[in-house]
Amino acid sequence: MGPPGAGKGTQAKRLAERFDMDHLSSGDIFRAEKDSGSQLGRKLGEYMSAGQLVPDETVVEVMAGAITRCTAAGGLLLDGFPRTVPQASALDEQLDKAGKPLDAVVVMTAEDDLIVKRITGRRTCGKCGKIYHLTFMPPRKDNVCDACGSELTQRADDTEQVVRERLETYYKQTEPVIAYYRDRDGLKVIDVDGGGEADDVLAEMVVEFDKLRANC
Ligand code: AP5
Repeated sequence: MGPPGAGKGTQAKRLAERFDMDHLSSGDIFRAEKDSGSQLGRKLGEYMSAGQLVPDETVVEVMAGAITRCTAAGGLLLDGFPRTVPQASALDEQLDKAGKPLDAVVVMTAEDDLIVKRITGRRTCGKCGKIYHLTFMPPRKDNVCDACGSELTQRADDTEQVVRERLETYYKQTEPVIAYYRDRDGLKVIDVDGGGEADDVLAEMVVEFDKLRANC
């Protein structure tokens, strides 16, 4: 969990690869639906381009289906979901029924000004999803993905105006979810400063994930 630009997607991709986990990003799933041109995708696009949350009912239905299809041996890493208390409680219900409750919640933080710089400079590979930043993590060749050679694109919601809306939404609707988890006995909450160097942030998380694995 964390505000836009804290580095959730960047680190989740690395962690999932390292620990053989499925990585489910609600934002990526919604953007793929939007790009498909479906009626649902057009509706999702309206919320996303305004920096608002997609309604809980839709999110829970889409994410529940995606979670059911996950099979990786190392488990599941959720990125961007849940984002409201009703979403968190629906997730609890689903995981309880499956007998696989949450092992931990990772909370990433970053300062608003840094977030704006990160978001406005972000570029993403349209094919493999690798994330870059024009200044902080540039590709070797301008506008071309190092990993697969495809063109890099800018997300439609990555403007300063929309990211400020997304931050507002985050503080109002998603921070209460962090409190919801902190109040739960026995659930490990891992706090990480996402404002540091990406390799240092990853290293910190790997230490915590190794500890979790040792206790499983
Ligand atoms: P989503 O796609 O989840 O966006 P977000 O939460 O706003 O998060 P971001 O993807 O912008 O940030 P990130 O933390 O992943 O940062 P990243 O690693 O890319 O959601 C988009 C929209 O979908 C929402 O607004 C909403 O409408 C809808 N939605 C999604 N889930 C929903 C839900 N559950 N309920 C309702 N609606 C939902 O990094 C950002 C940039 O910084 C990159 O350029 C990267 O290269 C750079 N960077 C990262 N880490 C570092 C570092 N350590 N040092 C330097 N640069 C770094």
